[in-house]
Amino acid sequence: MLGIFDSGIGGLTVVREILRRAPQTSFVYLGDTARAPYGNKSAETIGRYAVEDVAFLLAQGATDIVVACNTASSLALEALRQAYPQTRFFDVITPAVAALHELPQLKKIGVIGTRATIRSGTYEKRLKESLNNSSVQIFSVACPLFVPLVEENWLKRPETKRIARAYLQPLRQHQIDALVLGCTHYPLLEPVIRTSLQKRVQIIDSPSALVSQLEKEAPELLAVGHELRQEYFFTDTSPLTDQIAGRWLGRIIKSRHGELAG
Ligand code: DGL
Repeated sequence: MLGIFDSGIGGLTVVREILRRAPQTSFVYLGDTARAPYGNKSAETIGRYAVEDVAFLLAQGATDIVVACNTASSLALEALRQAYPQTRFFDVITPAVAALHELPQLKKIGVIGTRATIRSGTYEKRLKESLNNSSVQIFSVACPLFVPLVEENWLKRPETKRIARAYLQPLRQHQIDALVLGCTHYPLLEPVIRTSLQKRVQIIDSPSALVSQLEKEAPELLAVGHELRQEYFFTDTSPLTDQIAGRWLGRIIKSRHGELAG
């Protein structure tokens, strides 16, 4: 069974894609809302939080883990692999990089993410390795206000549009060909992000790239199991979180409190 975690509700964009393409998948989701956002924290703290999140999911019976958070995928994978050498991890960066690799004639790529993700330089490094083409330019921009805007459900507010335009202005100016949404919260802002850039920009989001990778590499995890289990835990539960999650997933969500062993 899949265990999926994020710092908050952003990882639900991965759940949504799983439910759309393989609705009979069993999973346990953990959003660490009590300690979100992760994106402004140090690598050491993010690594420690991720190890605790995974301990919770394994105790719930998860066998394989989706790190549905770019910040943790950038900074915590090594800590996770060391802490749980027997567990298979799927991160959100590998499939996004693979999806970009498929696009023809890329000259300029934009990457947006949390401060920690952008500061880690993981996307740039992985993209350069994968594209093996020094003429491709990569422009990275941290958008730290996007996560709280999503957690507050301010998806279409004029304030959000103004903030998006300001953050994305350098990418507009560089006339990028493709943009990686390097944070699992960002697909919720995709309409606003899209209108802040030139129309021809191709947008890569990790949720759909990740589910394609699961279909290829671990189809057994998306298959019908004996008993369907789809559970949502948050370390800080609130009616607003359930409401936003429900609206986003198109179903009623009754989340439970997830108590992490610190
Ligand atoms: N959704 C997360 C990501 O993909 C983290 C957001 C945050 O907690 O800062 O990076």
